[in-house]
Amino acid sequence: MDVLETVSDLREALAGPRRGGRKIGLVPTMGSLHEAHFSLIRAARAECDTVVASIFVNPTQFGPGEDLELYPRTPELDARGCEQEGVDLLFTPPVEGMYPPGFQTKVTVEEVSREYCGRYRPGHFPGVATVVLKLLNIVQPHAAYFGEKDFQQSAVIRRMVGDLNIPVEIRLLPIVREPDGLAMSSRNRYLSGSAREAATVLFRSLEAAAERVRAGERSAAAVLKTVREVFEGEPAAQLQYAGVADDETLEPVESIRGREHLLLAAFVGDVRLIDNRSFEDALG
Ligand code: PAF
Repeated sequence: MDVLETVSDLREALAGPRRGGRKIGLVPTMGSLHEAHFSLIRAARAECDTVVASIFVNPTQFGPGEDLELYPRTPELDARGCEQEGVDLLFTPPVEGMYPPGFQTKVTVEEVSREYCGRYRPGHFPGVATVVLKLLNIVQPHAAYFGEKDFQQSAVIRRMVGDLNIPVEIRLLPIVREPDGLAMSSRNRYLSGSAREAATVLFRSLEAAAERVRAGERSAAAVLKTVREVFEGEPAAQLQYAGVADDETLEPVESIRGREHLLLAAFVGDVRLIDNRSFEDALG
């Protein structure tokens, strides 16, 4: 595995594979890698000839007062993990390499970014869309791999790729969960004993909602009431939002038909967690 820090070095390293007609896969990450990231790398490894992973803690997707400084950074472990999973090229640009002096362009995917995380983290999705577009332009992969845990992020990226005619296949991989259901996240490492236990409320509320759908409920409002009730039983966690949204537009829906996701965000102490679920399996 080669580790490259500059755009020109990475482009040079990709010139041969591109000329040779090899399929290039990109796994963009912010590092602090765990099983969910490795599942993306494995999928890329299985489907592509040349696998590029990027590790870049993107400052523009963090708002003031968010955890940019505290965001976990484990560069040596990450590099070892990438090597073990068969990454060919690891791109680790410095901030000034991605945002040189004078940088001023921002990509905004208006409507898909508006609700849910977008409402509580203004500036987050423009930051994500801009850095993902930059990475897609730098690597020009045939396929790029993202996790479904960040469902709204994936909808923003899918919309951007469609709207801007970017020639890449966006591959979405399922959420990877701990045995008790907690969705894997780099921020889980901040959860101590009782908070870690309380954090399972996200998964429990999603499952309780799916149970209602399985029993015949189709009203989004009723399902969201169930989510709130599960949270009421877990005082260590505060629900920030819960909504049932159309898979493509992310517009809130009133009834569940099979093309929606239940999205939620919650604080456990000062750790913010997100999770989501489709109802496809519950509709029968
Ligand atoms: O999901 C992430 O880790 C980040 O938002 C991404 C897509 C790498 C952009 O910084």
